[in-house]
Amino acid sequence: MGGGIAQLAASAGHNVLLFDSFTGASAKAVERIKAGLDGLVKKGKMDEAKMNGILSKIKVGGVLEDFAQCGFVIEAVIEDLEVKKDLFRKLESICRPDAVLATNTSSISVTSIAAACKESGRVIGVHFFNPAPVMPLVEIIPGLATETSIAQKVTEFIKSWGKVTVLAKDTPGFIVNRVARPFYGEAIRIYEEGIADIADIDWAMKEIGGFKMGPFELMDFIGNDVNYMVTETVWRQMFFDPRYKPSITQKRLSEAGFWGKKSGRGYYNYAEGAAQPTSNKDTKLGNEIFMRIISMLVNEAFEALYYKIANREDLETAMTKGVNYPKGLIAWGEEIGLKKVLATLEGLSETYNDDRYRPSVLLKRSVN
Ligand SMILES: NC(=O)c1ccc[n+]([C@@H]2O[C@H](COP(=O)([O-])OP(=O)(O)OC[C@H]3O[C@@H](n4cnc5c(N)ncnc54)[C@H](O)[C@@H]3O)[C@@H](O)[C@H]2O)c1
Repeated sequence: MGGGIAQLAASAGHNVLLFDSFTGASAKAVERIKAGLDGLVKKGKMDEAKMNGILSKIKVGGVLEDFAQCGFVIEAVIEDLEVKKDLFRKLESICRPDAVLATNTSSISVTSIAAACKESGRVIGVHFFNPAPVMPLVEIIPGLATETSIAQKVTEFIKSWGKVTVLAKDTPGFIVNRVARPFYGEAIRIYEEGIADIADIDWAMKEIGGFKMGPFELMDFIGNDVNYMVTETVWRQMFFDPRYKPSITQKRLSEAGFWGKKSGRGYYNYAEGAAQPTSNKDTKLGNEIFMRIISMLVNEAFEALYYKIANREDLETAMTKGVNYPKGLIAWGEEIGLKKVLATLEGLSETYNDDRYRPSVLLKRSVN
């Protein structure tokens, strides 16, 4: 992620200092950036002068103290609270007093990272999506102590890089990683219960739902290790709310090293010539699958709105720009009919007697 963010900032015309505590890691990141830009040049999407201009703006730092000259620092080290806190403590003592210190964390509380600093008002979450130069969305997450002026300044700054920003409350998973959970979790439930196979579920969500990728294809693409870790983290941080409960299926895939595309095997087998499961394309079953998953997603979006995780506009933007959903979930729910969504949830709730399916207060109010 660090390399992608560096490329993005350099493309926006900024001088960038790239630093990694592991010797050689930054140089490797620069090589990867160069290889990516080279590819664009070969395809005729960028000229060589532009590529050289971007590369000339990225310098590799030798020691952390080199950040003393920087006005804006984005941390993208491993997802570990103690490692991040230790880094912010050091950065605070190195950086200029007016420098903004940002974290690209995808699941750790920004407030808890900022608490490592004496001047936590200038610490903020700036959550990019992978690959950072391509994905349009950035979630801006002020911690409890972040100064409002810093949040405004950072939002304008990131917008000037050509990104779409949304403002998210510092809560587990922020917007996208919270609201998207049922896309994966509910699909796995349907599979675990033997209601449908992975190919049927993927087919239903693509063909009937209009999603670009089915849940299992997407999980294999993200990495089942990463996806499991995010699910588990959100669930734990939400005080074990059953709505976010991870699945044994995904845990086993993660343990087995069946991480998806990157490891050659996940829900699907990516070995050359491997047999692929096919869908029966049963429209009745497909509609049931779609309604169950979309109702859970819409419910999650209403819940996020109710708890002021973000405003309606930002919620809709986050899901369409961050994970390419074909429509914003609240508008989608309205289009399907909130009454129908609520009835689906109530049906699931009655069938399973599981708090996981409880409808959002706001959804109920919007129907009545
Ligand atoms: N990969 C994604 O899709 C994605 C998306 C959004 C946000 N993020 C966030 O970005 C951050 C980095 O994720 P990534 O996928 O690039 O991870 P990564 O493992 O590819 O990179 C992490 C970097 O941290 C360095 N590192 C490892 N141990 C360290 C230590 N003890 N101290 C300091 N540096 C150390 C490594 O050298 C490596 O360059 C995480 O906070 C992650 O949650 C990742």
